[in-house]
Amino acid sequence: MRVDVVSIFPEYFTPLDLSLVGRARANGVLRLAVHDLRSWTHDVHRTVDDTPYGGGPGMVMRPEPWGDALDALAPAELTPAGLSPDGLAPGGSTLPRLLVPSPAGEPFTQAMAHELASESHLLFACGRYEGIDQRVLDHAATRMRVTEVSLGDYVLFGGEVAVLVILEAVTRLLPGVLGNAGSLDEESHTHGLLEAPMYTKPAAWRGHEVPEVLRSGDHGRIARWRRDEALARTATRRPDMFAALDPASLDKRDRAA
Ligand code: ADE
Repeated sequence: MRVDVVSIFPEYFTPLDLSLVGRARANGVLRLAVHDLRSWTHDVHRTVDDTPYGGGPGMVMRPEPWGDALDALAPAELTPAGLSPDGLAPGGSTLPRLLVPSPAGEPFTQAMAHELASESHLLFACGRYEGIDQRVLDHAATRMRVTEVSLGDYVLFGGEVAVLVILEAVTRLLPGVLGNAGSLDEESHTHGLLEAPMYTKPAAWRGHEVPEVLRSGDHGRIARWRRDEALARTATRRPDMFAALDPASLDKRDRAA
């Protein structure tokens, strides 16, 4: 997967050299490039922002550097205007997907991470201040798929940290990145449930014992216990997720629990 990130703070992305994301980059599974938005400015002050039309506090990012950055990273000849509803170019080739982190975006979820992991080219535009001039997104939407995405109901200084989060969630879903693909199947959010608690050795620690069932070797009982814990956790911590469970996915013993 190719990923381009544009930001006025490229240094934010140095952690992407580390750990499993760093290894995915080294392996070529993830071809990531980080670009400084200011390299597409043309004035001595390398200006990227200005005061908002209509007044109000803060500054808005000017459209010109963003327009030039997107033209350079997703050239218009490869992304002709006139998208089909499925986001494909007239010739059927896949267009880059532009993601713009914003507290006003649609919620980032594990389902969206899976969807993004199947793309061939992601472009991230990191806004700062009060955001990016809306015309940048409107113009980009004529030749690529644009999604404003929010990490949650709180406000960050800019999109950089959100991109780190999204990229980590997406990279671990890329083929070959996780050693044990089975762990993808059991983790929280994969089946609309939070994961049951996990334990390792020693069996007793500071007066707290590992639940007996996990040491029993009885795989049927262990699976049942994990399922009950997952249901109970989801019901208390995430009533919204619990209410959204498909009743057909619950067995008789789930309903009794
Ligand atoms: N930028 C500022 N706040 C944000 C949020 N909550 N999610 C994504 N991007 C943001």
